Amino acid sequence: MQPVSAPAKIILFGEHAVVYGYPAIAVPVCDVRITAQIKPAEALRVVSLDMHDHPLVVYPQLAGDDAVSTITRLALQYFDESPPPITIEINSQIPVASGLGSGAALSAVIARALAAHFGKSLQPDTLNDMVFQTEKLHHGTPSGIDNTVIVYEKPVYFRRSQPIEIISRIGKRLTFLIGDTGEKALTHVSVGDVRKLRDMHPDEIEPILYEIGSIAERARTAIEQGDVKTIGELMTQNHELLQRLTVSSPSLDTLVTSALDAGAYGAKLSGGGRGGNMIALVDEDHAEPVKDVLLQSGAVNVLTTHLLESD
Ligand code: PMV
Repeated sequence: MQPVSAPAKIILFGEHAVVYGYPAIAVPVCDVRITAQIKPAEALRVVSLDMHDHPLVVYPQLAGDDAVSTITRLALQYFDESPPPITIEINSQIPVASGLGSGAALSAVIARALAAHFGKSLQPDTLNDMVFQTEKLHHGTPSGIDNTVIVYEKPVYFRRSQPIEIISRIGKRLTFLIGDTGEKALTHVSVGDVRKLRDMHPDEIEPILYEIGSIAERARTAIEQGDVKTIGELMTQNHELLQRLTVSSPSLDTLVTSALDAGAYGAKLSGGGRGGNMIALVDEDHAEPVKDVLLQSGAVNVLTTHLLESD
């Protein structure tokens, strides 16, 4: 069987506000992936070879309600099959709890591996729904943006409970650096804290969420028109609003400021925040110097990814 895989993702605009129905933009990071292979075994188990910080995880049975068991159960129910005697061997390049969507990608590959094993088709809409159900059990109130961008592997303009909109016109090739603070942070904690803040100070917080949504809307036009300068400015404005939602952190702020000082068009945290990754939009020529500055400023790893210009 050919290995199956799923990509990482970054949120370019709109995290947190997206939970409350405002638009957000996310793109897949196609060269950073989780891959799964199937090997014969005596009973169903999922072995994770190199999930960062989790060198070897084995789930020999499905009794638990953890994410791996949940997606496996949902997939087996959908295919109307019982647990097969196989090992699903997972190899991941996506750091966990870092805002890159490792949880949704892991669920997606497990379901894809089972589909491949049974020789059954698994349409993106069905897979998207399964991964979303799994995310809901394990992350409280996810907006659904992670599973959508990871399953369809396309840039998306996402609004909760609305039909999926793929952004198919990209006016200019965009280069992003993804700087990892090395600090793990759980998304459901920061999402829960923003919810408490909104409940306590609705008059202060609701306008911030609205403004984040309006930035995502303007950013979509700028992306379609290839207006790199505006995209960068909107990213930095988005970061400032996320700071006001209390989801940034000293290390994220340091990396954002260093990237801007080194000539990035714009920079912001990406994902749940409080740690994890930040992103910077850079000119192709500035990619290396900004990357060096990020590493000097404490990033433990810096990836480069591109959003390709459409034809
Ligand atoms: O930290 P991540 O990669 O799971 O991204 C979370 C994005 C949020 O908007 C904060 C939450 C959500 O469900 O959309």
